[in-house]
Amino acid sequence: MITSTLENKIADTRYDVHPLIAQRWSPRVFSDKEVTGEDMNQLLEAVRWSASSRNEQPWRLIYAHRGSKAYERMMSCLSEFNRKWAGNAPVLILAGYKEKFESGKDNFHALHDLGLALGNMTVQAQSMDIALHHMAGVDWKKAHEKFDVPAGYHIATAIAVGYYGGSAEELPESLYESAQAERTRIPQASFSAEGKWPEDNN
Ligand SMILES: Cc1cc2nc3c(=O)[nH]c(=O)nc-3n(C[C@H](O)[C@H](O)[C@H](O)COP(=O)(O)O)c2cc1C
Repeated sequence: MITSTLENKIADTRYDVHPLIAQRWSPRVFSDKEVTGEDMNQLLEAVRWSASSRNEQPWRLIYAHRGSKAYERMMSCLSEFNRKWAGNAPVLILAGYKEKFESGKDNFHALHDLGLALGNMTVQAQSMDIALHHMAGVDWKKAHEKFDVPAGYHIATAIAVGYYGGSAEELPESLYESAQAERTRIPQASFSAEGKWPEDNN
C-alpha cells in the first residue's frame, strides 16, 4: 500500500502520468520502519540497470544505516540546513560519479548518468513506498576525505532514504511550514517547445 499520498503532496498534473510519478515527493520526516538490506539491494539493482553513455556506469554510491559510524560521518558532511532533518532518515547515501573514461578523456555525461540512475532508483523506491530526498547541501570535500574517495571521482549529492510516514510535527518550526506547502511547477511551455527553443522560458 502506498502511504505517500498526503493529499496536498500529490502532483496537480495537467495530463495523466503514472501514479509512481504523481505521488512522489521529498519528505523530511520518515516512518520508523526499517529500510532493510534487501530493500537496499532492490534500490541498487534499479541503479544497476540504468542507461548510461557508452554503458560506462559511472555512478558510485556509499550507503549507511542509522546507528552506524558511517551514518554519523555522513551526517557530519551535510550542510547545517540538512543536518536539521536528515537524521530522521534510516539510511543515508552519498552519490558520486567517475569523472573520466579509462582513456583519460573527460566523461561529460557522467553527472547526467548519475542523475538518470538516481531517477530510476527514485521510481523503484516509490513502488516500495520508500521516499528519497536528494540533497545538494553536502560538503563534497569533507565527504571525499571522510570516505577516502579516490582521485578521479566526485561526490555530487547525498540522499535521505526512508519509508514514507512520520509526522511533520517532529520537524523544527522553521521546516514545518515548508512540509505543509503545496508542490508547484513551471508549465510545460516554459521548458519545452516543438521545433524551437521554448519562448516562454522565464
Ligand atoms: C539534486 C537535488 C538537490 C537537492 N538538494 C536539497 C537539499 O540540499 N536540501 C533539501 O532539503 N532539499 C533538496 N532537494 C529537494 C528539492 O528541494 C525538491 O526536490 C524540490 O523542492 C521539489 O520538491 P518535490 O521533490 O517534493 O517535488 C534537492 C533535490 C535535488 C533533485
